[in-house]
Amino acid sequence: MSGALHDAIPILDLQDVASGDPERERRAALAIERGLGRYGLVYVNNHGIDPAALDAFYEEFLALTTLPDAEKRRWARADLWFQRGYTPPNTEKAVVAGGQPDFKECWFAAPIEVDPVAAELYPEIHPPNVWPDDRPRFRTLYEAIGLALHEAGLALLRACADALALPRETFASVTRGAPHITRALKYLPLDAQQCEQGVLWGEEHTDFNLLTLLPGGWFLDRDGHRCARPDDRSGLFLRTRGAEGHPGGALVPGTAPPGCIVAQVGQQLEILTGGRLLATPHVITAPKTPGYARTSMAHFVHVHTDTRLFPLPPFQTREAMMAYRPPVLAGTYDIKTLVDIGLAPPEALSKLGYRHYDRLASVRAGEPQETA
Ligand SMILES: [Fe+2]
Repeated sequence: MSGALHDAIPILDLQDVASGDPERERRAALAIERGLGRYGLVYVNNHGIDPAALDAFYEEFLALTTLPDAEKRRWARADLWFQRGYTPPNTEKAVVAGGQPDFKECWFAAPIEVDPVAAELYPEIHPPNVWPDDRPRFRTLYEAIGLALHEAGLALLRACADALALPRETFASVTRGAPHITRALKYLPLDAQQCEQGVLWGEEHTDFNLLTLLPGGWFLDRDGHRCARPDDRSGLFLRTRGAEGHPGGALVPGTAPPGCIVAQVGQQLEILTGGRLLATPHVITAPKTPGYARTSMAHFVHVHTDTRLFPLPPFQTREAMMAYRPPVLAGTYDIKTLVDIGLAPPEALSKLGYRHYDRLASVRAGEPQETA
């Protein structure tokens, strides 16, 4: 893990984006080019996230996680593929994981209005939010932070378009009404044996959405109190692109400089740019000492389910087209990925083909047919 590399990650001032000042806009595009293009991540300041609200939210969320398991499971919605409400530990799995159990519990909520038509076509990924009745502050803070993170994400996408010499709204315009989602996470304390085995809190993976925003989290000591990072190997690490000297990339701590948040590239942005921006692998490492927990938050900006996931025309080299074929709809891709990571049942894939084969048998049997 390289401190020098950590220092080389640029900081993007969000107020430079679309500021109308060519020099500042160029600076923002350069930060994207160097940050997301070279390293896969960028630090962002002037992002509009209120740190006091974030702290207050973590207090609320942690209080909720202390409820008895049975109570929390009232909000666990397997029927919604866990896309809203509570996700119990050991539910999700990373796609390229070694199959270890999942040591986190989470909450999912959408801070942005979804497209009502898409919500009918893909009900499980655009359901109404699930909220605890008696925790209005949890909901208010959740929605406010989710919305602020989303706004920051849209600004970053405009800077991405600038950096790639595309019309500024190229990416932001395909996010309207999409299944954006904000997640609150708590990584659970490990015991001595699990620490010894090097069990990870979250195995290395890439996110399947367009762009992920990470406002930073807290470590918790054995008594559940906020504490400093227990050791310099624990927490979120992001893998940079391979380069000379470290062909496998290097793991950079996801801890942003003071006042900044982290943004990273998801698979959808990689596909649309034909790999000019690569989805950022990341891992959440548990402390070497047992008993610590961690809470954090992430906002996932998605493209609308109608978006065709394939390199955009400026990136359609033969190599890119071959790498990302066949083109698929984002909604289809979402379903497939949610099955892959264990949140949707495998039967969900049967929705992706023709489902009326039985009609022919019925016609041949001379049964009366319903007219449309
Ligand atoms: Fe992730």
